[in-house]
Amino acid sequence: MRIDVLTLFPEIFHSYLGQSVLKKAIERGLVEIYLHNIRDWSHDKKHHKVDDRPFGGGPGMVLMAPPVVECVEAVQAMADQPGHLVMLTPQGRKLNQAVVEELAQYPRLLLLCGRYEGFDERIRLILKPDEISIGDYVLNGGEVAAMVVIDAVIRLVPGVLGDEESSRQDSFSGPERLLDHAQYTRPRCYRGYEVPAVLLSGNHRAIARWRLMDRRRRTEERRRDLLESSTASRSGEGVRDEKTSKNSLGERGDAGLQPESPATETQEDSKQE
Ligand code: ADE
Repeated sequence: MRIDVLTLFPEIFHSYLGQSVLKKAIERGLVEIYLHNIRDWSHDKKHHKVDDRPFGGGPGMVLMAPPVVECVEAVQAMADQPGHLVMLTPQGRKLNQAVVEELAQYPRLLLLCGRYEGFDERIRLILKPDEISIGDYVLNGGEVAAMVVIDAVIRLVPGVLGDEESSRQDSFSGPERLLDHAQYTRPRCYRGYEVPAVLLSGNHRAIARWRLMDRRRRTEERRRDLLESSTASRSGEGVRDEKTSKNSLGERGDAGLQPESPATETQEDSKQE
């Protein structure tokens, strides 16, 4: 996958691009990232100005259309395919894992980062970008948002994580888009908190069942909105029945969702280590 970042502050990306997962993906040729400074397309050859005061008055400065539009067009022409143009803006559609999956399908992405009070409206009208927001808050510019997009998208590029299963098991992934289940590692007991016995049982079916229940329970407790908008809720799966307060597994409340740990599994557990 090729990603071109169009920004007034390319240097912000340098340390991020050197971090382990991304660095390895770049070294292995799985991801190519190119940084372009919008200022290089400024019509002002002396001061490389790219912003101006808003017509009609108001605070701040607005990014001018000519340098931005011409920068995008020139960068599009740098490869065989123009790529999918993303504009990072708080006014865009909100980024979530489904949008990340959609973006990961493109062989080439152009990420356009704004600064100042925003973009001249003609940039949107001419370029018709896919406008994306990373959340309902205003950042000082699109650079951090672009890094968020890159970080989430490259996890889905085949080969980047080494183990494809690990991105498939991420929170928000899979048909139900559930949160991830709890994870434990050594020691088995810490300050009185034991690792659930089923995870030590070696019984892979029981572990898979426990993890699915834990994902559903956590999602119900923390992010009911995810269940309401997921395939699971459309088919009635994983959602608590309001009348019986049972979930789709027929269990009542938290108690019913405790991990299964039959005595045999607990005994086997001691053989495991
Ligand atoms: N630029 C400024 N705020 C932003 C946000 N929330 N998402 C994407 N780009 C932005």
